[in-house]
Amino acid sequence: MDVPQLIISNENLKDAIAKHLSSLVIDQEKLTRLRAVFEDEVEKGIESGLSNSSIQMENTYITELLDGSETGDYLALDLGGTNFRVILVRLLAGRIQKEIIDYYSVAESLRLGPGADLFLFLAECIQHFCNKNSVSAETEISLGFTFSFPMVQHALDVGVLVNWTKSFNCPGVIGEDAVKLLNDSLAKLGLKHIKVVAILNDTTGTLVAGVHDYPDCGIGLILGTGTNGAYLENISRIKRWESGSREGVSSVIVDPEWGAFGDNGTIDFIKTDWDRELDGESLLPASFTYEKYFAGRYLGELTRLVLKSVFTPELLGDCPPGILQKESIETKDVSDISQDILNDGREKTGELLTKLGSSNKDAVSVLQYIVELLVERASILVGVPMASFLDRMDRPSTTIAVTGSLYKYHPSLKSKLECKIGRMTDKPFKFGLSDDGSGKGAGLVAAIAKRIVQRN
Ligand code: GLC
Repeated sequence: MDVPQLIISNENLKDAIAKHLSSLVIDQEKLTRLRAVFEDEVEKGIESGLSNSSIQMENTYITELLDGSETGDYLALDLGGTNFRVILVRLLAGRIQKEIIDYYSVAESLRLGPGADLFLFLAECIQHFCNKNSVSAETEISLGFTFSFPMVQHALDVGVLVNWTKSFNCPGVIGEDAVKLLNDSLAKLGLKHIKVVAILNDTTGTLVAGVHDYPDCGIGLILGTGTNGAYLENISRIKRWESGSREGVSSVIVDPEWGAFGDNGTIDFIKTDWDRELDGESLLPASFTYEKYFAGRYLGELTRLVLKSVFTPELLGDCPPGILQKESIETKDVSDISQDILNDGREKTGELLTKLGSSNKDAVSVLQYIVELLVERASILVGVPMASFLDRMDRPSTTIAVTGSLYKYHPSLKSKLECKIGRMTDKPFKFGLSDDGSGKGAGLVAAIAKRIVQRN
């Protein structure tokens, strides 16, 4: 990890703070160990899923990408964050001709309330969308459902929720098939012409949408509220297969769910007291701990917890009231601070500290140092799965289709990632932004799924 410079004139204080924060550094030895554990967990996950690994490695049953034959209108849903999207995708010969997108905000009461209410709300949004955009109720229309949570997939259109992540925790859904719950709600509203043909993860959608824009795309990466990355796995390595024929199939998209990497304690050697504190205070403790190291839902709060710990009598003195307040630093503040670091400036960092009630003269440097350490660490933690998958796929070139608020709004994460991945693998790669990939991808997957089902 490239360790940043801490600029404080008092040498003793500088050394004491650097020492206090040193557990955030992932040195070469830890990195080598981390990579080896990741690859071991991937193998075990492929073999037997969560029963023997923290990385699920779920088979998505998406065995084909676009072949140019996809034509017609498809509906797509995208649920995973605080916004729910309904999309109509019009395809002609595998190319997107037109897209209509509507956004519906998912209130906290729905994200934490009974599952039946959430799925009824989704169906009501679809109904509203279809009425508003004159989607005919006379003709059957295929729908792809992006449901960005860990699922066990028994088929293309069966996804049983393993557990909630991010800001959702609705009782009554874990262990249930999300497609069935959606179908029940659609039926209640009389929307029988809508046929859910595939359920997928946002990373899968991003990968398929990525292929639409970049033919050599092989990975779909999400760096947003949560984090995960799907890739194309060679069919010969897939052990768990329950539905449909695998004859003539050469590869399948795998959804690793690496946000849960280390939930079984295998990488506790990188875990700091701040990571433990953040996890303990989170909505779903001890679950999806890898994404709690850096994903958008957590990075701001993690920064606050680390900063708070520097305000002790031996280091920066009394803690200002704002820094004691939960979630007073947001992930977008982290992006602003990184922008200051890039500009060699102090403006945004200073404004934030003033807002939080700090006037300590060294606080700006310390906060910038903390942010740089956390973003460096994030780039390594994302780099490990990316480099491992690039090595596994062993292709002459690969575009990593990527989206998510953390990636899009952070000013230096992309270049740090390029640098770290480049050091971890010699396989050529580049990033390709796939805005709205998870939604668009659901429409494309619906078209592909319809084709696979018709053939089987
Ligand atoms: C969480 C979800 C995963 C999703 C990721 C990015 O990790 O469990 O399914 O892909 O967030 O949204």
